[in-house]
Amino acid sequence: MSHSGRSLAELEGIIERGLTTFVEVGSALMEIRDRKLYLGQYKTFDAYCRERWGFQRTRAYQLMSAAEVVMSTNVDIQNESQARELARLKDEEEIIAVYHELRDEYGDEHVTAERIRRLVTRRLERQHRDQQALARRNGRRLPALPPDIELRHGDFREVLADIPDASVDLIFTDPPYGKSALALWKDLSVFAARVLKPGALLISYSGQQYLPQVLEALGSVLEYVWLGWSPNQGSYSQIHQLRIRARGKPVLFYSKQDYEPRVWLDDVRYDSGAEKGLHPMQQSLETAHYYIEKLTEPKGLVIDPFVGSGTTAVASLRLARRFIGAEIDAGTLKGAQQRLAEEYNTS
Ligand SMILES: C[S@@+](CC[C@H](N)C(=O)[O-])C[C@H]1O[C@@H](n2cnc3c(N)ncnc32)[C@H](O)[C@@H]1O
Repeated sequence: MSHSGRSLAELEGIIERGLTTFVEVGSALMEIRDRKLYLGQYKTFDAYCRERWGFQRTRAYQLMSAAEVVMSTNVDIQNESQARELARLKDEEEIIAVYHELRDEYGDEHVTAERIRRLVTRRLERQHRDQQALARRNGRRLPALPPDIELRHGDFREVLADIPDASVDLIFTDPPYGKSALALWKDLSVFAARVLKPGALLISYSGQQYLPQVLEALGSVLEYVWLGWSPNQGSYSQIHQLRIRARGKPVLFYSKQDYEPRVWLDDVRYDSGAEKGLHPMQQSLETAHYYIEKLTEPKGLVIDPFVGSGTTAVASLRLARRFIGAEIDAGTLKGAQQRLAEEYNTS
């Protein structure tokens, strides 16, 4: 074979461009699958991939999940092998965290698929161990739960549908922040506009990346009141594309109809920062306690549609408020139930 005489840089440029086409291939396959464009000539999507392109099912799904990782996380992934390793994680935030951790440790140029594979494997093994520990803990009989604290298992849109209109004194919450969760914010605001008492607040933590969309969703049915801030204590995550060290997150205040301020509120809370360990996104108990105490009376009704480890519920219990919350993940909910039961039975 005769060679072209091109330089190493030129040849590597060709390889680099070729390695990034998997995103286009994967997203084209996804569109064909989702819009069922294969149906004219093939019975199934699998048959289409096999007969038209010679792909086995797993290959087509590898390409699609790798493309999805790149499109949904916005991190600077160089090739399909890296994306495929990251696709083993189920959560966009986890993917971003892994990628950033490796870039911080090795620098931009040296985040290899092998390094991603090792870190992802370590994380998955740790999650597996945590789940087993949780299952062992959950296997034990739960002690009695507090009577005014109700934790419901399921999607908040279904399991909180029976909350009466205009009956809630405060919604204090923390939905997932990723792109795939954006639809939840619209549903959250519609829910809040129905169940909050007129003049009452929805207070919610939020991520930064999709803040314009989040504000638009909340503002479509609620009244904007204020943008507060929750600083991290010392720690930060690095957003490489923007060269920003994120040292906190927004806290959004919206009301149903015009806000009726009855007390003075701080818009920034400096918490103890030492409470992580029950949920990856666990928030400050002190902050929840502060706003619940300020904005509700004893026996007032507090709602958290995204319970997680149960932080809002614990604060409500300590303050003798009534609480109802929803959590879609059964294992997470059991962890929250255990936390509440322990809090109740030791207080
Ligand atoms: C950011 S975490 C909340 C963490 C919580 N603030 C804490 O301190 O532990 C969001 C939680 O919402 C749950 N979730 C996501 N979608 C949901 C839905 N549609 N209905 C109810 N819970 C949901 C997730 O499983 C996750 O545990």
